Amino acid sequence: MTEVVTSPPGVDRFPVRQPPPRAQLDALSREIRLLKQQLNAVILAHNYQVPEIQDIADFVGDSLGLSQQAARTPADVIVFCGVHFMAETAKILNPGKVVVLPDVEAGCSLEDICPADQLAALQRTNPKFWTIAYINCSAAVKALSDVICTSGNAEKIVRAAPPDRDVLFVPDENLGQWVMEQTGRPMTLWKGNCYAHVEFKRDSVLKLKQQLPQARVVVHPEALREVRELADAVCSTEKMVTYCRTNPASQFIIVTESGILHRLQKECPDKQFYCAPVYDAFRLPSDSCRCSECKYMKLNTLEKVRDCMKRLSPRIELPPAILERARLPIERMLQLSAA
Ligand code: 13P
Ligand code: SF4
Repeated sequence: MTEVVTSPPGVDRFPVRQPPPRAQLDALSREIRLLKQQLNAVILAHNYQVPEIQDIADFVGDSLGLSQQAARTPADVIVFCGVHFMAETAKILNPGKVVVLPDVEAGCSLEDICPADQLAALQRTNPKFWTIAYINCSAAVKALSDVICTSGNAEKIVRAAPPDRDVLFVPDENLGQWVMEQTGRPMTLWKGNCYAHVEFKRDSVLKLKQQLPQARVVVHPEALREVRELADAVCSTEKMVTYCRTNPASQFIIVTESGILHRLQKECPDKQFYCAPVYDAFRLPSDSCRCSECKYMKLNTLEKVRDCMKRLSPRIELPPAILERARLPIERMLQLSAA
């Protein structure tokens, strides 16, 4: 198991998560590999999943990469180790396949903040709206949208919006604000945010940066503008991996969910990664966790992966009308991303 979080001089060591015992993980991994063969299954895992899930996955990536994998997989069963909206997207792209999610409670604060009926009511106020939905939303919201985007392609998708339409961007106002800054395109923003990313504050990231003056600061666009302003790069989780791999710097402050550190350390073993603190490091009791974790992403465990494959449950099921209507904006996104 890679130990990924180290501390700069003068700052207490961040507590490192205790994984289950090695023998237990090995036994579970063997069972999962066997089930994978029996079911002709593919295991897709998001960059925020716990290390042992990332290590047994066939593909680890960001929302865009996972959608692209889901769109092209020949497997009969998709085991989606991420959150609910991601597994729903895989189901929309594969209505005839079985899609399972290890923990059905793995939701997302952005999905919760944008109910489909409220979006439909707002859309009725302006027939010229062109709705761009960040993939972190329900299938019902996708079905109401013109096109989907992820943090990896949001700029491209917004630039491709018809010039004669008024862009309505839902549900993440921070990502929306960042894309407006990049493109200059005015947009109406839904008032939503990721509960985990808005915990990062300018002062605490700045203090860590002062202690690590050589470090590059890499920030997810779901973070607040005051934090994005400190960044050397603002990008999706997958682009973070590419940035850190190709940048000559050896130290990086990572402002996103701490699960990404496993992937970063694996791909760049000679570099040092520091989780940005979610609050002021100098006012904390020394044992408190200072890394950001998404409580939804962390619901999935290796044991639950094994169980969902054994039972083929919890399984993603959607009403046929939603499945059909949500497919077009996702396919539009995939086409625009490939162009
Ligand atoms: P990425 O697509 O950049 O991996 O982001 C997904 C997400 O949920 C960020 O919180
Ligand atoms: Fe949703 Fe935030 Fe968790 Fe990403 S980190 S899945 S945006 S709650």
